[in-house]
Amino acid sequence: MAEIIDGKKISQDIKDEVKEQVAKLNEEGVTVTLAVILVGKDPASSVYVNNKKKACEYTGIRSLSYELPEDTTEEELLSLIDQLNQAENVDGILVQLPLPKQIDEDRVIHRISPDKDVDGFHPESVGRLSIGERGFVSCTPAGIIELLKRSNVVIDGSECVVIGRSNIVGKPMAILLIRENGTVTVCHSHTKDLKEVTRRADILVVAIGKPKMIDGSYIKEGATVIDVGIHRTGEGNKLCGDCDYDSVAAVAGKITPVPGGVGPMTIAMLMVNTLEASRMHRGK
Ligand code: GUN
Repeated sequence: MAEIIDGKKISQDIKDEVKEQVAKLNEEGVTVTLAVILVGKDPASSVYVNNKKKACEYTGIRSLSYELPEDTTEEELLSLIDQLNQAENVDGILVQLPLPKQIDEDRVIHRISPDKDVDGFHPESVGRLSIGERGFVSCTPAGIIELLKRSNVVIDGSECVVIGRSNIVGKPMAILLIRENGTVTVCHSHTKDLKEVTRRADILVVAIGKPKMIDGSYIKEGATVIDVGIHRTGEGNKLCGDCDYDSVAAVAGKITPVPGGVGPMTIAMLMVNTLEASRMHRGK
């Protein structure tokens, strides 16, 4: 049976580390501030935003909350972003996605100043990541690297397979694994023989977006499996991932559960990025 990678515990450790750093800054008279923008009332987004605000409270980061109505225009949102870009007392800006259909997400992502882009979605952040410059890294893949390192999984020289090529997870994940000296393959919906590729993986990151799609037959004996998916099932509204957990856990060496695996890491890394933004703004 696979060993469980406890994302709840590891994310707690990271939040405690951030909390300690923030407390030191507070003693020096520095406040770390994250502006959180939610447009509309999407229930999942409201839960995520609330959890982000709670994490700020826990770590001592000041959060400024902007809850805008569903019919907010793109101009109104862009004008708020301009204002926050200029505000000296704001370190990071987070606009919760998805946005209502009248607002162009790409235009919003481009408008956030790259030095406050704690989500790591701005093209400048993505470019910096690609060429190994200091910048913000998308929170979910950054969190996965922390999960692997803190669980003593060796990336250097390992066969790493990522299923999914999204801008938020798959692509930055592949770049980060390359940076850690992994041998990386990215699979997607056009991959011809998915199982043949995944069975080579020492580290398999699954970010497909389809409940329980990957079972034990896709896994090499002893592999580390990271499940990025999160879905509500019909059965009692229980949460599940992109992996069929019991089947994968019977073959894998290490595995992240859903919930309590990757999910909590995303928020912990947002706190890390916000602290980093504050350091950058003070020239540290
Ligand atoms: N919606 C789903 N995931 C994310 C995320 O990581 N950041 C933002 N801003 N919105 C999201």
